[in-house]
Amino acid sequence: MTMCGIIGKAGDGNVIPDIINGLKKLEYRGYDSAGIAVLGENGYSSVKTAGKVDALSEAVTACRCAPGDTGIGHTRWATHGAPTDRNAHPHFSPDGKFSVVHNGIIENASELKKSVLPEDEVYASETDTGVAAHLLAFYYQGDVIEAVSKTVNALKGSFALGILCSDCPETLFAAACASPLFAAKGQSGTFIASDMGAVGEDAKEIYKLTNREIARLTKDGIAFFDADGKPIVKNTVSVQVGRLSLEKGGFEHYMLYEIMQQPDAVRDTILPLIKDGHIIRHEGFPEREFVRERLNKIRIIACGSAYHTGLVAASLIEQYCGVDCRAEVASEFRYSAALIDENTLTVFISQSGETADTLAALRLAKEKGAKTLAIVNIEGSAIATESDAVVFTRAGRETAVATTKAYSAQLAVLYALTLYLAREKGTVTEEQEGAYTAELLRLPEKIRLTTETVSETVTELAAMLAKKEDMFFIGRLLDSAAAMEGSLKMKEISYINSQAYAAGELKHGTISLVEEGTPVIALATQEDVFTKTVANLYEVKARGAYTILITEEKFLNREFAADKVIAVPDTADPFAVSLAVVPMQLLSYYTAKNRGCDIDKPKNLAKSVTVE
Ligand code: AGP
Repeated sequence: MTMCGIIGKAGDGNVIPDIINGLKKLEYRGYDSAGIAVLGENGYSSVKTAGKVDALSEAVTACRCAPGDTGIGHTRWATHGAPTDRNAHPHFSPDGKFSVVHNGIIENASELKKSVLPEDEVYASETDTGVAAHLLAFYYQGDVIEAVSKTVNALKGSFALGILCSDCPETLFAAACASPLFAAKGQSGTFIASDMGAVGEDAKEIYKLTNREIARLTKDGIAFFDADGKPIVKNTVSVQVGRLSLEKGGFEHYMLYEIMQQPDAVRDTILPLIKDGHIIRHEGFPEREFVRERLNKIRIIACGSAYHTGLVAASLIEQYCGVDCRAEVASEFRYSAALIDENTLTVFISQSGETADTLAALRLAKEKGAKTLAIVNIEGSAIATESDAVVFTRAGRETAVATTKAYSAQLAVLYALTLYLAREKGTVTEEQEGAYTAELLRLPEKIRLTTETVSETVTELAAMLAKKEDMFFIGRLLDSAAAMEGSLKMKEISYINSQAYAAGELKHGTISLVEEGTPVIALATQEDVFTKTVANLYEVKARGAYTILITEEKFLNREFAADKVIAVPDTADPFAVSLAVVPMQLLSYYTAKNRGCDIDKPKNLAKSVTVE
């Protein structure tokens, strides 16, 4: 099983450059190994390598890969089978006729090897993808669509397949079930891709393959078939293609570029939710009757950084709306008792809209009859299309694996949802909601200001942090949720072992890990617990910690001691995380830079985790 990026093209000229360029834009989906197969006048030529797409590109040049009008490409995030040349895609059938690239999980691969395929078959790789290639050859009797239909009906699990057959050198085939795969017509031919951002503006009419549907593409057009191989007519989908650009706006890394785009991302996200100084009843928000008469609890379900925004929202919703609200990790929720019902609002947060655990949790919530609301950054994504309602973040394409601007845009939507629910529940007056909304509108500028004012201190601290192997992020209430995000950012791009802890909890064991010089980054932006967090800072300082306090300007005249203080502009307590997170994003960025890490493509990670 693999999680990766797929691209294919049927054109009337050498497709290799387009496929390599598309793979570079899909590397955010995984970059352990990559490969390409093209069909030209002398049949197949194929190259595959462990490592990034650049390594593939060099290999293609070195071996003078013969050109071809039709081709498939793949960049892989290894889940089963080490990232080696052998396990890289495309995979071929034993007779060499079929080549396949795959994204997803073929859950019955070993079963098929025993029950369907001949026992003496020899497999060239240890991946489940190889089984799909063998099945195609096994079922093939001259009609490729029939062979593809029988193959996709035999597979269990989630898969997106790009397929070539040497008997049809000018044709590209594709099929998908629960793994994202789009087909599109363009100026220079037809395409398939896991994310049409890899094709960009050239993709004109875009279709999404679902439910084991099959596509047959030639340079002149696309034909679609259902799982049984019967021709069907499909409608185009509206996908926020947004070019997955290789440009970084003049910055060295996408991550820094995207940190600097946060003011715009937040502004573009909240403006459509506000009219005449108040939060509108957005079509994605639950109806007033439901909120007032039926709503019994809210569950916010997500993964990673999206989960961290859920922690912020859960605290705010309980405090300001008086509704039982909890944030849940999707990979836990989907196997839990999930005590929800038709009076529960479930909120699913996802930048990509394709995260397998979050999607599975959404499907569970729908089975239980709960109302579902998605907060997603990519139009046309599975979570967006399968939810009852959706509010899109307008962060634009986010390429760096470590999310920043999408995280901030998600917070902005959650602030608006909280204010809407509080006003509809009557726990805040229209006037109070208006005052908070006015502060929300000032947030983009305050984020920009924060980026400017903290940079010098952050780059200085990063030089010291880069030499450390352990560190802690602590805080209370909303600051505790923010600490989780700061810690994840540091871990995922600098590879430094970092723990986020509720400040008051540290002394119940973990403080034993604090040694001379251990960095402890404390967040204190919440009036009610400011002095408590400062007290915890003294506790770790007494044990030799190097203490860094992230707080707001309004607290600088208070009694506290820290080796370094980073002050962000003042804002209302509910929104402080949106400012406190900026120095932590920058700290992780510059620390990772000092450590020479691959910031935009950290090891072992991928931007969209489409497998569980
Ligand atoms: C965040 O920096 C990570 N890349 C990761 O935790 C991410 O937030 C998580 O995988 C969820 O992704 P999603 O928002 O696309 O669902």
